[in-house]
Amino acid sequence: MFRSLNLNPDQIPTKKPVKKDKERWNARYKEFTGGSASPDNLLVSNSGLLSRGRGLDLACGHGANSIFLAGRGYWVDALDISHEGVRQAQSRARGLKLEVGWLVADLDDFPIPQGIYDVALVFYFYSEPLLPKILGALKPTGLLYYSTYNYRHTSLKPDFKPEYLVPEGGLGRLFPGLRILLDEPEAGSEGNLSRLIAQKY
Ligand SMILES: C[S@@+](CC[C@H](N)C(=O)[O-])C[C@H]1O[C@@H](n2cnc3c(N)ncnc32)[C@H](O)[C@@H]1O
Repeated sequence: MFRSLNLNPDQIPTKKPVKKDKERWNARYKEFTGGSASPDNLLVSNSGLLSRGRGLDLACGHGANSIFLAGRGYWVDALDISHEGVRQAQSRARGLKLEVGWLVADLDDFPIPQGIYDVALVFYFYSEPLLPKILGALKPTGLLYYSTYNYRHTSLKPDFKPEYLVPEGGLGRLFPGLRILLDEPEAGSEGNLSRLIAQKY
């Protein structure tokens, strides 16, 4: 059972045809059943910045980062379009006796609650129209941890959709309302990752 985010009924997206992305990710997570999922190094190595409060993990997948945050004492809302990913995440969290507010939702039209989160996580998901909503989700002093593939990734995976990649220049310049704590536009051994840690003023 998925805990609800206390949304107004008229904020809940209406039913629509199943998306290709959802099917693709469900199939992938089914294949990976039982596989290990570790929290991202950006989060773990910089966890000294964390305190307590309310956390948000967007496109949480099988939930390693949400679970890490919940283990640090945060009350976490974690969303993904894949019910299979969320099911695995929920089962892993339950095994660890950690409570997380899991939700199956499509971020293309999900009304992300605004101004209530002390920390927001986005790992390996990029959608340009979502950026203002991510920024808006944070409280003043709220932290954003963001790491995902950038435009250089197409040299490794030519069929990766360019709209899912961070453009040249990195993530920091896309969040003008944040104080940058770490901005690595071309990280990783291939330079195909953009990483950001930033804080709302
Ligand atoms: C590369 S995985 C990353 C998962 C997780 N953040 C991690 O780092 O392990 C991308 C995730 O985005 C989710 N996703 C793709 N499109 C989405 C959408 N429109 N709304 C919500 N989640 C979506 C997929 O289901 C998948 O779990």
